[in-house]
Amino acid sequence: MGFILAAVGSAVGLGNIWRFPFITGQYGGSSFLITYLAFVALIGFPAILVEFVIGRYTNLNPVGAIRELGSGAWNYLGWLFVAIGFVILSYYSVVAGWFLRYTLIGVIDGYTLAGPEEAGQLFGTVTTGLDSLLFHAVFMALVIGIIAAGVRKGIEVGVKVMVPAIIALLVGLAAYAFTLDASGAAYSYYLSPDFEYLLANWTSILPAAAGQAFFTLSLGMGVMITYASYLGEDRNLASDAGVIVALDTLIAVIVGFVVFPFLFAAGIEPGGPGASAIFVSLTSAFSTIPGGRLIGIVFFAMVGIAALSSAISILEVLVSYLIDEAGVSRVPAATAIGVAVFLLGVPVTVDLIFLDLYDKLADGILLVLGSLLLALFVGWVIPDIAREELQKGIGDLGGLGTAWIWIVRVPIVIVVVVSLYLGIVDYADFLTGSFAEWLAAR
Ligand code: PFF
Repeated sequence: MGFILAAVGSAVGLGNIWRFPFITGQYGGSSFLITYLAFVALIGFPAILVEFVIGRYTNLNPVGAIRELGSGAWNYLGWLFVAIGFVILSYYSVVAGWFLRYTLIGVIDGYTLAGPEEAGQLFGTVTTGLDSLLFHAVFMALVIGIIAAGVRKGIEVGVKVMVPAIIALLVGLAAYAFTLDASGAAYSYYLSPDFEYLLANWTSILPAAAGQAFFTLSLGMGVMITYASYLGEDRNLASDAGVIVALDTLIAVIVGFVVFPFLFAAGIEPGGPGASAIFVSLTSAFSTIPGGRLIGIVFFAMVGIAALSSAISILEVLVSYLIDEAGVSRVPAATAIGVAVFLLGVPVTVDLIFLDLYDKLADGILLVLGSLLLALFVGWVIPDIAREELQKGIGDLGGLGTAWIWIVRVPIVIVVVVSLYLGIVDYADFLTGSFAEWLAAR
């Protein structure tokens, strides 16, 4: 039970609530949604099993696990995981800090905003300068404290409260959003796939869906290896993976039913607000809904907890690496790495261009690369061990076990290689486009 809670706690976070709606908005709504759902089911689910079998078979952290099973160049995979963790956690903490800040705004002032414009201005204040820096520091301090203390119980309780609370709040907000005049238009934008659009834009939709799927499921940097290393052999890995994937996807999909009606009602283009989408749509909503202040406070606080349980899973990978590799003890390891991560995140509090710089790199490239290498490793280096490990706790899978290996070996590798290539092209465009312009303007 502790494992499922921890894994769900890692998966459910800013990826579902903050990132999913704005990426969906930027990549065409329904066309993105359908690609993302297909990716999660066909690639995300088998890929989560890839990490589970490595973790449970070795009972080791990702770096130790790969070292035990592989040899030669495979050992560098651990370094890749560490690099990914650094980049992701640095901006993840900044964004989580915004949620803390919005919770506090509710407590102190309430969400009395004249309209979406004022909501946009508020977002501007929260996300730049000292305001943003301070809450980034507070959030990182929390993460460091929890990891340094090695607390496990508190996290489990947190997740047990947070997940049902978030689902209940989201369903309530979605029901309210349903009553808005704009909801019809929003649903059709979100739900009726436009295959012409999809065909014309698949080269950007596919890598975006791949990055979002790996990010939201915490795949590609060893988190699920770490968590599965605590698992007993009687656990059914496939059904555990099913629960995690289903819950995670459910939450993201409901967020869309909340955000898009509110954006449409406010007359905002769904692709326009980018990273501010969830904040602008929800603060406008909380300022009009009866009881909005209390609902808002609880909602932002719960997302803060969700972000905390995800951030913990990332820092744990980094810290266990330093503990095992360099023999450093837990408290100094957590502090040193946490401070380094904090510093790396500072530019994001200065200018949001750094959010794009980090996020596109981590999501569009690094997690996809990590997942690709893990699939190659399981599919081609340790297929027999992996198949056998999967069957423990399930029983003889017959042809299904072999089918899983072949799915990991060929189709997954092909789709992920294509996504990775497109992600690199996309990032190069960003570096030579928006980022170069931003630099030139300095
Ligand atoms: N899955 C988390 C979320 O959706 O917010 C983010 C995350 C956690 C990504 C852990 C990667 C990771 F290794």
